[in-house]
Amino acid sequence: MNDSNVRPETMQRITGKEQAEQFIESQIEALRNQIGDGKVLLALSGGVDSSVTAALLIKAIGSRLVCVHVNHGLLRKGEPEQVIKVFRDQMKADLIYVDAVDRFLDKLAGVKDPEQKRHIIGKEFIDVFAEEAAKLKGIKFLAQGTIYPDILESKDGIKAHHNVGGLPPELNFELVEPVKLLYKDEVRVVGEALGLPHGMVYRQPFPGPGLGVRCTGAITRDRLEAVRESDAILREEFEKAGLAGKVWQYFTTVPDYRSTGIKDGKRTWEWPVIIRAVNTRDAVTATVPELPFSLLQHITARITSEVKGVNRVLWDITPKPTATIEWE
Ligand code: XMP
Repeated sequence: MNDSNVRPETMQRITGKEQAEQFIESQIEALRNQIGDGKVLLALSGGVDSSVTAALLIKAIGSRLVCVHVNHGLLRKGEPEQVIKVFRDQMKADLIYVDAVDRFLDKLAGVKDPEQKRHIIGKEFIDVFAEEAAKLKGIKFLAQGTIYPDILESKDGIKAHHNVGGLPPELNFELVEPVKLLYKDEVRVVGEALGLPHGMVYRQPFPGPGLGVRCTGAITRDRLEAVRESDAILREEFEKAGLAGKVWQYFTTVPDYRSTGIKDGKRTWEWPVIIRAVNTRDAVTATVPELPFSLLQHITARITSEVKGVNRVLWDITPKPTATIEWE
């Protein structure tokens, strides 16, 4: 294992299958040297970095990797199922699935402030993960999907570098970080070479607090469901229209606001769904791409007929600045 947090100048950028396979071979050897016959714990969110880290470790040490997937109820439609299918069913990982949906949503009930919501989600995640870790005996190592930009940004003081962040020190793990010298594009190439599904490896960025920041104000289960269902429709239609991979990030938000509408001749009092689609290099500024009007009409028709509690669809065409990408 390379103990250094500095990428050697001689290290070539991994752009193709062959280089990825060389990297995988050398990491398998390094991981086996570091871990010996020990066991490793990993918080597997289903994001690119933790998924590639898991796949590498499964190749190196098989079921001596224990993955913990915490479903906090704020994931996109189908995500927990995909994690189970890919890692438990296909890769035969030792995967502990924690259904913490009620626990998170109960803690978040009635909480309106965005920062407080983020704080609760972050703290609860650490608590759930630490509880699972404490139940397991004889695990010395903790794997993290740290990537090179995390190291560079923490060195520059831009952000604290922690993926599992703030685990209680008494858990006393030795860190295993097999992709820490790779850039995001390299992690993706390695992920594909490891046989992870394309959709998992090339998925768009998704905030840690998940759909929690897209169900503005106090989260309720019914409005959260409206966010999840409308987001799934938007993603499906963008994929069909060939926009997946072309637009950097796209999603829906359902604000805590109702307006009058009409359905089947009867007055309704329901939420709007807001469509957000942006292009950016680094998320510091963002532009809004033109979308075909017919696509917007089609998505509107599907959302208003298929998603419960929704009577309007709006399109947010504001760049960043003045708006941020997310609504809260
Ligand atoms: P904003 O809304 O600040 O978002 O323009 C910029 C990018 O960051 C993502 N985002 C987050 N990611 N935790 C995260 O891990 C968060 O709390 C968070 N808030 C926003 C957002 O999706 C966008 O890609």
